Amino acid sequence: MKLLILGATGPTGRHLVDLAQRSGDSVTALVRNPATLGDLTEKVTPVTGDATSHRDIAAAAAGHDAIASALGRGNSVRADGLFTRASAAVTGAANEVGVSRLVWLSSFGVGETFGWSSTPQKVIYRTLLRSIYADKEIADDRIRSSGLDWTVVYPTRLTHGPAQGTYSVGDRLPMKGNPTISRADVAAFMHRAVHGSEWIHRSPVITD
Ligand SMILES: NC(=O)c1ccc[n+]([C@@H]2O[C@H](COP(=O)([O-])OP(=O)(O)OC[C@H]3O[C@@H](n4cnc5c(N)ncnc54)[C@H](OP(=O)(O)O)[C@@H]3O)[C@@H](O)[C@H]2O)c1
Repeated sequence: MKLLILGATGPTGRHLVDLAQRSGDSVTALVRNPATLGDLTEKVTPVTGDATSHRDIAAAAAGHDAIASALGRGNSVRADGLFTRASAAVTGAANEVGVSRLVWLSSFGVGETFGWSSTPQKVIYRTLLRSIYADKEIADDRIRSSGLDWTVVYPTRLTHGPAQGTYSVGDRLPMKGNPTISRADVAAFMHRAVHGSEWIHRSPVITD
């Protein structure tokens, strides 16, 4: 598969690049600064660009089978419109260049999933993550109405732990406390999803 990865230099994106490359995918990474790829440089075709630019995404995505996004704001608690702007660019460009498959990383607690969250989760989502989550909600809704073969993934709190392969995934999962999942497991699920049809037009929740 020819796969375009957004957010390839982030901690989840790095796992995704690694998995995709090892499974035989031909990986293109849209990055703002190719120097930040480090040891991933030889595993991808780097394309310099910004994920909020329709033009940059269209140029990078042309000829690919799918797009996977692990975009994020790093340690910032301010969205700065990243997800709304990137979702507009990605859905517009994907439709323009004929790439129908999109796997998009969101966060558990965004949109409808807020209603299913536990009390400790709700406290964090309403305060610290308020800006990010409001921006993500608009982005996720845009993706679901894009006409693409989308999957929007809702992980609980991310860790840097190793892949366990024992996570739970479903359209709706009961929550207690503030559960976690490793970025390595999330990347493995995203890779599985992008290669199959099971999760098309679905919004899976994923947690340990
Ligand atoms: N932390 C948690 O507990 C948690 C829980 C659930 C979901 N999530 C979500 O999971 C996702 C991934 O999080 P993460 O911590 O693995 O990654 P992250 O540190 O947020 O990674 C951000 C990635 O996005 C890229 N990026 C940001 N703005 C960009 C732009 N305008 N154009 C191109 N690339 C851009 C960064 O590239 P540069 O190298 O250029 O900066 C980097 O590769 C995020 O959406 C996050 O909200 C996080």
